[in-house]
Amino acid sequence: MTTTGSLLEVNDIRASFGGVRALDGASFSVEAGTITGLIGPNGAGKTTIFNCISGLVDGFSGAVRFDGADIARARPEVVSRSGLVRSFQLARGCPLMTVFEHLMLYGPRQVGEGVFRALASPGAVRRQEEELRERSYVVAKRLRLDHVLDNLVTALSGGQKKLLEIGRVLLAEPKMVLLDEPMAGVNPTLVGEIAEQLASIGESGVTILLIEHEMELIERLCDDVIVMAEGKFLTRGAFDEVTADRRVQECYLGVQLQ
Ligand SMILES: Nc1ncnc2c1ncn2[C@@H]1O[C@H](COP(=O)(O)OP(=O)(O)OP(=O)(O)O)[C@@H](O)[C@H]1O
Ligand SMILES: [Mg+2]
Repeated sequence: MTTTGSLLEVNDIRASFGGVRALDGASFSVEAGTITGLIGPNGAGKTTIFNCISGLVDGFSGAVRFDGADIARARPEVVSRSGLVRSFQLARGCPLMTVFEHLMLYGPRQVGEGVFRALASPGAVRRQEEELRERSYVVAKRLRLDHVLDNLVTALSGGQKKLLEIGRVLLAEPKMVLLDEPMAGVNPTLVGEIAEQLASIGESGVTILLIEHEMELIERLCDDVIVMAEGKFLTRGAFDEVTADRRVQECYLGVQLQ
């Protein structure tokens, strides 16, 4: 499974919660510069493997390599600082903050924080903040959130919250993003918009691993599709290949794939 172009490699990941075996020796790799889909029926272990990769699961076994480094069981902030950033669903009870404040809050942590702030000159801190401010505007404009920058996050629609979450991920300047159902619950007009954004993020060279149940989106966006079932890797390939595979159809039993 090790290939030279792989940016992310997971190997033989096992994780259990109580008596439930969520991951049972899952392995796959993701090539740099691709938009790769991660599909599989409910309970296949897709979200759990994202959680393992991003440092949110204690006590899993197996190897995780990102950009040549071993990141298995690294802390979440170490993983994101290495350039691998994941999205979360913005919780309903998000803090009373404007869209702009939210983007600024999660910008890359550099000179302006902690011990660095004490060591850095005030001018350097100011320049950093100014730069982050400008980049927040650029990202907001790109995601067409510029007209709601002063609105409270709580006042955004579900789809706009999804876009904001993608914006937060982009401001971290990642090499790779893990997106867990970024379009779930979004109205059809915004789905098209988010899909376009993801395609353009992919074109800008950011590698994307995308969990999505909406097969039309997987077909439209992904160069390569990985299928998981019952905590394991099942198969991978082009969308048409994997959806024509009997084993894939069987594991989705009763679910229309195309
Ligand atoms: N924290 C947890 N505690 C107990 N069981 C868990 C936990 N997290 C995941 N599981 C179980 O592990 C299995 C895999 O769940 P996971 O959420 O990874 O599936 P999924 O592929 O993301 O499914 P879906 O498509 O429905 O989001 C399921 O049986 C789930 O109930
Ligand atoms: Mg899930």
